[in-house]
Amino acid sequence: MHRDEILAWLCEGDLARLGDLWQLADRTRQHYVGGEVHLRGLVEISNHCVRWCGYCGLRAGNHSLHRYRMTDGEILACTREAVELGYGTVVLQAGEDPELTRDRIAGMVSRIKAETPLAVTLSLGEREDGDLAAWREAGADRYLLRFETSNRALYEQLHPPRTGYRPTDRTAILGALRRLGYEIGSGVMIGLPGQIYDDLADDLMCFGRLGLDMIGVGPYLRHPQTPLADRHRWPPASNVEQVPASELMTYKVMALARLVCPRANIPATTALATLNPREGHELGLVRGANVVMPNLTPPRYRALYEIYPGRAGEAETGEACCRGLDQRLRAIGRRPGRGRGDSSNYQMRRS
Ligand code: 5AD
Repeated sequence: MHRDEILAWLCEGDLARLGDLWQLADRTRQHYVGGEVHLRGLVEISNHCVRWCGYCGLRAGNHSLHRYRMTDGEILACTREAVELGYGTVVLQAGEDPELTRDRIAGMVSRIKAETPLAVTLSLGEREDGDLAAWREAGADRYLLRFETSNRALYEQLHPPRTGYRPTDRTAILGALRRLGYEIGSGVMIGLPGQIYDDLADDLMCFGRLGLDMIGVGPYLRHPQTPLADRHRWPPASNVEQVPASELMTYKVMALARLVCPRANIPATTALATLNPREGHELGLVRGANVVMPNLTPPRYRALYEIYPGRAGEAETGEACCRGLDQRLRAIGRRPGRGRGDSSNYQMRRS
């Protein structure tokens, strides 16, 4: 797909014409990855973070947040729940937490792989090559690292340098992950203050260039305990090129991501469901997405994993979420996936 075409869709305001985009994305999804919706059990294992990302509630500077780190036993209990609920994958996610050492995560991954049939996805931030290699060796299958925005100036503004930290090139880390044999996932936030339509077009081109196996995108949601919430009043009245952090814009980016990377696994994200709790997931699933990530984090921790406020599904148990989900998938003519739900892009690359 040409960049001009992507840009035109991003700017399209006519809902009837956008209907064509939804249909094209849905057909492409059906053709390349079929009607199964893969379920990934999300376990947020720690909300400690050493980074100072301007948008995120877990940032080190947020002293009003109570911090937690799950024990190995608690994490394993969640993975057993994922198996019982019939999920094929568990996703271990955390802030950038140095106490989650190379050895500790490697040990955890080995145990999950030995004791369950689950695929293991890690989403633990920017880590040393040695960590990433050790975890792959221990059996981790996939790694998620969003590059957040391909606009370098905006990226650096959102990830200010601190002692011992310089903003990195996350696409280079994604390249290293790929060479290690991981399925790689990335993505961006939509409607970051200062983000313009051209930036989003570049982001989508970048998805294609990286040949991503997984793509997660969601709207930027303002967190009051972050500098970004104060620096920019929302919506910025003066800038007509500012991308809105809207539900509609999120669907556009998801649909275009499907067209750019037809074989990728694309979730209907929690951030999207936060904007539209009633039908955000369903609308995402008929506009390009083929994955849902039910939250299996124990409820007492879940509210503390506050990357943004008011997250959808904050109070639900994994089991309750699952029961509802089955019916909701059936209602849109889809079915929960069986097996691990590996990326068909990855399989093609390997064969
Ligand atoms: N709004 C929306 N998404 C956010 N993330 C972090 N903070 C926010 C926010 N305020 C997203 C980032 C990160 C992922 C785990 O959550 O894209 O990579």
